[in-house]
Amino acid sequence: MSQELVERLVAELTAAGRLTDPRWAEALRAVPRHLFVPDVAWAVFDRPGADGAAIDRNADPDRWLDVVYSDTAIATQVDDGAGDPGTCSGTWTSSCSTPGIVAIFLELLRPLDHHRVLEIGTGTGWTSALLSWRLGGGNVTSVEIDEAIAERAAANVAAAGQAPRLVRGDGERGHADGAPYDRVHVTCGVERVPYPWVEQCRPGGVIVMPWLPGWNMGHIARLTAAGDGTASGRLTGQAGFMMLRSQRRPPGPPADADTGAAEESATRLDPRILIGDAQGADVAITALVPGVRTALSPAADGSMRVWAIETAGGSWAAVDFTPGRDDFRVLQYGPRPLGRDRDRLHDLGQVGAAGTGTLRSHRHAR
Ligand SMILES: C[S@@+](CC[C@H](N)C(=O)[O-])C[C@H]1O[C@@H](n2cnc3c(N)ncnc32)[C@H](O)[C@@H]1O
Repeated sequence: MSQELVERLVAELTAAGRLTDPRWAEALRAVPRHLFVPDVAWAVFDRPGADGAAIDRNADPDRWLDVVYSDTAIATQVDDGAGDPGTCSGTWTSSCSTPGIVAIFLELLRPLDHHRVLEIGTGTGWTSALLSWRLGGGNVTSVEIDEAIAERAAANVAAAGQAPRLVRGDGERGHADGAPYDRVHVTCGVERVPYPWVEQCRPGGVIVMPWLPGWNMGHIARLTAAGDGTASGRLTGQAGFMMLRSQRRPPGPPADADTGAAEESATRLDPRILIGDAQGADVAITALVPGVRTALSPAADGSMRVWAIETAGGSWAAVDFTPGRDDFRVLQYGPRPLGRDRDRLHDLGQVGAAGTGTLRSHRHAR
């Protein structure tokens, strides 16, 4: 039964262009995902109108298996273990990532036979087991910060017949014992790249990671270590991920936003242009206004507040889009003039508009 479902998943990922290397298709067949998903977990569906739902193997085994072999992220831990994955009422802190994104990252990693790989964020252990099937467990080191998650991952990889070197520790430091690595595979989001990952990489080695600077959606990054202490590369697509523990940010608007204390002005810029899914614009805006994240407060009538929030500071700005208006209210709070500097806001709008056009042509080309 699960073999049929594995084939369905392989066919789906292949048709979507996410799986092109037959060796990774073989790995998906050889390392069944269901061995890595707990009996009760939270499925995060990536389709309109279906945010998420509990899956319970004992209550409905067929549905559990069906979801496990779909292109769905499955949250396996909430609030570092304090929350309940069956209701997912908090923030998810560990997951079995979406198979499609796992495939994209593995293909981007492009390890050669006998390469040594360091994975940051063992999670359920599925990725480390797929890498072990491909390269041999002796060539795979995976670091997980959370003790309970690391223990479960060890049991999961053993059940799948794989034996990567699993390390319980802070992956921000890499794992010097196994260096140099040919590949570093980061499976949690980062805003700043921890330098040990570059140091522990062989010259010509590759680091793949979700890079989430905070402005809108995150990016898939592939860097190559130059051997002179630097690494550089390209952004190849978009991805959202939970953050490296030390770089976590609060989600959503500022919890204590005192809008009454904010300075008020107006702009003719439609603020939605700042948060369109324009990958190039996101990067340009991040460079122009570093250390700032976005949040959205949409309302049922189509109006929307777009937030720009300083990550390490108390300043924020918000622009209210109201349908039918010629100009929109700007709120500015704190010393950093995120919303007060109207020229800057206008510049960012231009970047947003240009980026949207760029992305459209990119999409047509794919
Ligand atoms: C998206 S999950 C990883 C999914 C995993 N690769 C898999 O195959 O199931 C991200 C994981 O990164 C872990 N993590 C976060 N910060 C970390 C750190 N500093 N060092 C090691 N692991 C970390 C989290 O505890 C979580 O388990």
